[in-house]
Amino acid sequence: MTLIDFHSRDLERLRQADRHRELRAPAGHDFSSNDYLGLASSDVLRAAARDALDGGLALGSGGSRLLRGNAPEHEELEAEAARFFTSEGALFLGSGYAANTLVFSTLPQAGDRIFHDELIHASAHEGMRLSRAPSEAFAHNDVDAAADAIERWRAKGACGTPWIAFETLYSMDGTEAPIADFAALADRVGAMLLVDEAHAVGVCGAQGRGLAAALHGRDDTVTLATCGKALGCEGALILSSAILGDFLINRGRGFIFSTAPSPLIAVVVRESLKVIARADDRREKLRGHVDRAERVLKPLGITSTGSHIQPVILGDDARTMRIAAALQARGFDVRGIRPPTVPNGTSRLRLSITLNVGEQTIDDLAAALGEIL
Ligand SMILES: Cc1ncc(COP(=O)(O)O)c(C=O)c1O
Repeated sequence: MTLIDFHSRDLERLRQADRHRELRAPAGHDFSSNDYLGLASSDVLRAAARDALDGGLALGSGGSRLLRGNAPEHEELEAEAARFFTSEGALFLGSGYAANTLVFSTLPQAGDRIFHDELIHASAHEGMRLSRAPSEAFAHNDVDAAADAIERWRAKGACGTPWIAFETLYSMDGTEAPIADFAALADRVGAMLLVDEAHAVGVCGAQGRGLAAALHGRDDTVTLATCGKALGCEGALILSSAILGDFLINRGRGFIFSTAPSPLIAVVVRESLKVIARADDRREKLRGHVDRAERVLKPLGITSTGSHIQPVILGDDARTMRIAAALQARGFDVRGIRPPTVPNGTSRLRLSITLNVGEQTIDDLAAALGEIL
């Protein structure tokens, strides 16, 4: 069997299992993007980019941040982010995936152990795969299970640092983490916290600082704020103590050996931070959308998560994709999500509620879904 045979057969297996994926251009009403506040196409961010380019800003960074790629725009963004999120330091990476991979693979050391929520994002898994520290999952949002796992580890004589990793708002489930309980557990057992705010930042908390804003500034907490979702741009900010930021710069292979993100993106993200700080009107409107979705989906037996991420769990892969296709045919961009993105047997429609649609469109979607189901 040649190498290409292997790849063709594997793709055929995916097709047989209804798990083959294809790239498709966006079409129809947006119920699938993470552009929750509708900022991706906002005039303010467009103007920030235009002004920067007109002012002669280079598009490319030209190298690693540790070589010639460290533009003033990166540092200005990081200073602004640290101020906004009230963290000691901030480090800008080209994507949340790269940032999580960097954090999980660089910070925990041999002798430590990472205890993570079973539903944590693939990028955290990628980092854990590369980490010197072994890892172990605990049941979703179960703080007691995390505490038990740490206790069992300690009882075996482990004296390293436990790292507790969770998302504040789960990307495929829309559930919120018991953040204060995890922080109390960290205090009790001397653990570090790895907190992924990808889907909360911009939308949740005062001025859109996220659900875990109260933890910023703690020496034991590292937070990920992605910039490609509610911030409407791309990249990610790692918020941490100055020491851990310095450690990532000096020891993080994904930081050292990678070309810095475009300074233009740094400028736009910085502008986006200013926009979200003043975006209570957008957050209020989105809350109205979420309430509307709750009201019109309830008669279909769909229980609201109370957040802008609303899964409709159908279970069967093929049925999920058929229903998603039927909604798409009616002009609604709803995507089916299958394993391995979600656990086996939990294929679902992931309804993302954004300001890119109006309330009438939410009503229309619910009506179409009711008919199709
Ligand atoms: C929870 C979570 N963390 C990290 C990421 C990765 O962020 P990015 O899309 O910026 O690479 C995602 C992306 O979907 C995510 O949902």
